Amino acid sequence: MINNLLSVKNLSLQFDIDGKQAYALRNVSFDIAQGEMVGIVGESGSGKSVLCFSLLKLLYKNGKITNGQVLLHGDDLLLKSENEMTKIRGEKISMIFQDPFLALNPAITIGHQITWIIMKHENIKKSEAKKRATQILSSVGIHDIDAVMKSYSHQFSGGQRQRIVIAMALCCSPELLLADEPTTALDVTTQAQVLSLISNLKKQRNMAVMLVTHDFGVVANTCDKIIVMYGGLIMEQATAKELFAAPKNPYTKALLECILSLESKREQQIEQINGDPPDILKLGDFCPFYKRCKYAMNICTRKIPPIFQISPTHSSACWLLDERAPVISDFKAVARKEADVN
Ligand SMILES: Nc1ncnc2c1ncn2[C@@H]1O[C@H](COP(=O)(O)OP(=O)(O)OP(=O)(O)O)[C@@H](O)[C@H]1O
Ligand code: SF4
Ligand SMILES: [Mg+2]
Repeated sequence: MINNLLSVKNLSLQFDIDGKQAYALRNVSFDIAQGEMVGIVGESGSGKSVLCFSLLKLLYKNGKITNGQVLLHGDDLLLKSENEMTKIRGEKISMIFQDPFLALNPAITIGHQITWIIMKHENIKKSEAKKRATQILSSVGIHDIDAVMKSYSHQFSGGQRQRIVIAMALCCSPELLLADEPTTALDVTTQAQVLSLISNLKKQRNMAVMLVTHDFGVVANTCDKIIVMYGGLIMEQATAKELFAAPKNPYTKALLECILSLESKREQQIEQINGDPPDILKLGDFCPFYKRCKYAMNICTRKIPPIFQISPTHSSACWLLDERAPVISDFKAVARKEADVN
């Protein structure tokens, strides 16, 4: 694809839960350009982490990708062998997790872990790998590097640990960093520091970042593009400017309204919309948001909304954008179905 680093096309994933099929991702499609920062937002259970894992082909035993492509420079990762994926993970796409403890081995020194990763991916001598490890630790703002290299993960604060995890993720210079809620376990000040570190490293390295977060404020300040997920579907995607100026999906609007009403509270989370998020075992051919949507129409209960294109960079899956829908000023139908656009 033109200038796209990653192109995800119609990705669908099911879990087998006690013999029943649950839909965790449904026809998910989006692109990430080189050096672009993309924010993924959505309530708990909307499929954000499953999406990150599936891009790396890291799936639970009961998970199965049933459809789609994950094209990295046009090359479908879903067709790669496990050996090929082991090389791609870290070298091309790296991931940092919400809990830094998960990524660090408590019994091995930090220096040894980072040096080992570098040596595993690159054919260089231990002394050279060690030198690279110290450089990468310094680039994430770690001081007293000699002492850090000889220390174990439990000896650090949460913020320091997350910096070390970021260093590990970056040590083979990936083109894409998947950051799955990398700051939720941290206090507010440290959260801001770690996010600004990721944002600076992204600029220095011209690296693409997919940032999963619960915090719309974070994506507003840092991301070029925002993807809103719900019930395994992409409900809306747009540039940050378009999304905040004129959201075209009732779910996005509800999320934004929750934030506005909670503006004064710094610890705001977005799970504030009335009603519960969907049970993935009970999803079907209907809009997953219809039970909570104040605009829901008959069609919403019978068919998954198609994707309507509002601008070249803005799309929304909502029946209100169909030309036959009643005109509601906020969602006025200036859109065309994706199929009509192409
Ligand atoms: N191995 C699994 N087996 C069955 N269901 C799973 C499995 N892993 C995840 N799920 C379900 O898939 C759905 C999406 O999960 P996911 O972890 O991607 O949500 P999320 O958007 O990352 O939420 P959070 O914000 O809480 O991290 C959830 O309903 C979750 O319960
Ligand atoms: S498709 Fe219907 S239920 Fe879904 S968000 Fe749009 S109006 Fe609401
Ligand atoms: Mg998650």
